[in-house]
Amino acid sequence: MRDLDEFTVTDETLSQMANTPNPRFKEIADAAVRHLHAFARDVNLTPEEWIQGIQFMTAVGQACTPLRQEFILLSDVLGLSAVVNALHDKKARELGSQSSLLGPFFREGVELTPAGTQIVEKPTVPEIVVYGKVTGNDGTPIPNALVQVWQTSERGLYDMQERNGESMDMRGTFQTDADGNYHFRTVRPLGYSIPMDGPVGAMVFAQKRHGMRPSHIHCLIGAEGYRELVTALYFGDDPYIDSDTVFGVSESLVVDSHDDPNSPIPGLRAVHYDFRLAKAAPGESGRVGADPTKLMKAAE
Ligand code: BEZ
Ligand code: FE
Repeated sequence: MRDLDEFTVTDETLSQMANTPNPRFKEIADAAVRHLHAFARDVNLTPEEWIQGIQFMTAVGQACTPLRQEFILLSDVLGLSAVVNALHDKKARELGSQSSLLGPFFREGVELTPAGTQIVEKPTVPEIVVYGKVTGNDGTPIPNALVQVWQTSERGLYDMQERNGESMDMRGTFQTDADGNYHFRTVRPLGYSIPMDGPVGAMVFAQKRHGMRPSHIHCLIGAEGYRELVTALYFGDDPYIDSDTVFGVSESLVVDSHDDPNSPIPGLRAVHYDFRLAKAAPGESGRVGADPTKLMKAAE
């Protein structure tokens, strides 16, 4: 037996994990141990601070419900989700549209509706139309691509927040036509604060951050043989466009709504955006995140 110090305990932990059969699990767990130990040494972590950290993570877990994923939120405000997205984009074999965060408000199972449908049940502000083409990297139109969209209302709340998850609103699923075109009607969503009433919000407050996300429409686009694209369109005139709390905005995803002679619904202000999908590697999925209701079920 040898006495362990703050350095040799790292070697000993790695040596006990050395027979892990799954090589990728081993790589990830080894790196997690090395970085966690180095972090504790780096900040000279005290037992009180360690317990505070445990309490914080416990509170994050306890804040999770079928309608709320506090761990995704934590990953988002720490920039980890943005890092994972950027790494994923870099692995693409060709260039597609830039990705953005899926966020915690994605829901599966929204029914397919005809092109041009209004996704907001009772709009109280002027309608806009969002339209464009879905193409491959080389500009080839992709027919029958699925375009799923979701957003906040003009009040800055998702349906999960306004309706307690009892029914869906401000969501749509559309299919591109033979020329790869999509369009739908909506209202301009209001930028909003990430949920601040839980442990992650308390952390964000303690860091003197504003907690806001600029106005955006989430888009998840899939087509046979292509990488699924998880992204969002951001309204450029939002006051928080340059300081998104979860680091989801990039220049190429910034849009505005304007009078547009090519709009498929004349008379409505339009947002025009063409999406490019990259070819998928075999067995690859582009999704970074999940429907929170499915995450809770998987953990049961
Ligand atoms: C969202 O865009 O829906 C979102 C993303 C990250 C944290 C909170 C909300
Ligand atoms: Fe969002």
